Amino acid sequence: MSGDTNEQLLKVLRIVNEKEKINSLELSSLLNLAHNSIIGLIKSLSVRDGLIETETETQVTWELTDEGNAIVNSGSYEVQVFNYLITNNSAPLPDVMKNVPNAKIGFSKAMANGWIKIDKSNNTVSTVVDNVVDLVKADLENIKNNDFTAVSAANKIDYKKRKLIKECSITVYKVSKGSSFSLTLEKGETELTPDMISSGSWKTKTFKPYNFEALGIQTPRGHLHPLLKIRDEFRRIFLELGYTEMWTSNYIASSFWNFDALFQPQQHPARDAHDTFFLQKPKETNFIPEEICKRVATVHSKGAYGSIGYKYEWDIKEAKKNILRTHTTVNSARTLYNLCHNKEFKPIKMFSIDRVFRNETLDATHLAEFNQIEGLIADYDLSLGDLIGVINQFFNKIGFDKVKFKPAYNPYTEPSMEIFCYHNGLQKWIEVGNSGMFRPEMLLTLGLPPNVNVIAWGLSVERPAMIKYHFNNIRDLVGPKVQLSTIYDDPIAQMKSLS
Ligand code: PHE
Repeated sequence: MSGDTNEQLLKVLRIVNEKEKINSLELSSLLNLAHNSIIGLIKSLSVRDGLIETETETQVTWELTDEGNAIVNSGSYEVQVFNYLITNNSAPLPDVMKNVPNAKIGFSKAMANGWIKIDKSNNTVSTVVDNVVDLVKADLENIKNNDFTAVSAANKIDYKKRKLIKECSITVYKVSKGSSFSLTLEKGETELTPDMISSGSWKTKTFKPYNFEALGIQTPRGHLHPLLKIRDEFRRIFLELGYTEMWTSNYIASSFWNFDALFQPQQHPARDAHDTFFLQKPKETNFIPEEICKRVATVHSKGAYGSIGYKYEWDIKEAKKNILRTHTTVNSARTLYNLCHNKEFKPIKMFSIDRVFRNETLDATHLAEFNQIEGLIADYDLSLGDLIGVINQFFNKIGFDKVKFKPAYNPYTEPSMEIFCYHNGLQKWIEVGNSGMFRPEMLLTLGLPPNVNVIAWGLSVERPAMIKYHFNNIRDLVGPKVQLSTIYDDPIAQMKSLS
């Protein structure tokens, strides 16, 4: 606290001591300090236990307009006209009008006050009295100093009409002595030190009361990245809906599980190095279960299960190539295989949320690694209606109420549908994922019973995250350019606020 403020605080205390009860407006005019500063002083006195008592009330008060302030500085217009005439003895009316600011109002007021007269024969104005008192200026000065009672109600109405003052309401503090009022300001101790304890001086010291309302300093701690928060929220939704989480801890997959088992032909453009990251070391997998490998070879090259296949020479060398998985559907395939490999099939709902990799050109909306929400339901006699239903259910849960489907093509699903959501904020449909019913070429190859259908989908995590956190560029959300402050300051993910 500066010495100056301390001095002002003491002045306030002395006035309170003398006057018993006083309000902040009166203090402001007595101490010639702005009302706001007085309130600051009162507040810092009232945090000291029992020093003063305060009560607040809302009061209608008056404030000078810019024009009112100008009059306080240069005098009222009528006095300005009068002064002009005093220095010039008398003057032609047009001269007065030209040389005195706001002379029109000043002239008529001065005439009405009987200070000046006009000789109609030569249109000349002269003074009638020797000197005048600037009552308007005096009134305005009183208002400026918050001394409202000094100005008559009629005058206030007049000044308001003339737009010299305006009405406003303020909080006024009434101040009186508190139970432990004193005229001195003891600087309260803020800390109990070992010295105070050993010397016993703590017994006589006054301590500043704790401010339990203070926010305190945030302790350093770990922060979840916005994407992780959203992943967590999506995960909880699926768990609540009764889904089981799929195992996904394999960034590296063989082409066999990523493509071949999904009935994706070996010439498919997605299997090109332009779209997929191939591993240098180990270049190939050395394990593909034999019986399923044979079934995949047959369904691709000759066809099976009512399908004519792709009619090409299926090559195990191509299937053995290790890659960074391009979609989490690779895990769906393996999960379905494990589900009925040497066991009896049981209907299941599964999901996963994890990272996938594509050899993409990076731009504002594309990354080489991103997250996918994968889901599947395997059961008897499922239909496309079931798929539409569960996808709607998920998106409704995260706050998208308008969901639209568009026919699409995937080698492993038939029918296939792209999923679009209407984003109310952006006022447009945005693509959020892809889905379909797994083909019999895939399911029967994996060993599922013939009348079991699997509805499945793959959704983006980053798209909704970008919308949720207002990122136009994905690289501001993921990667080396991310500002740590974004992660520290960002709120808990609540997808419901999206709508
Ligand atoms: N794997 C697809 C993708 O990466 C998504 C998908 C999953 C489509 C399951 C259909 C069924 O876009």
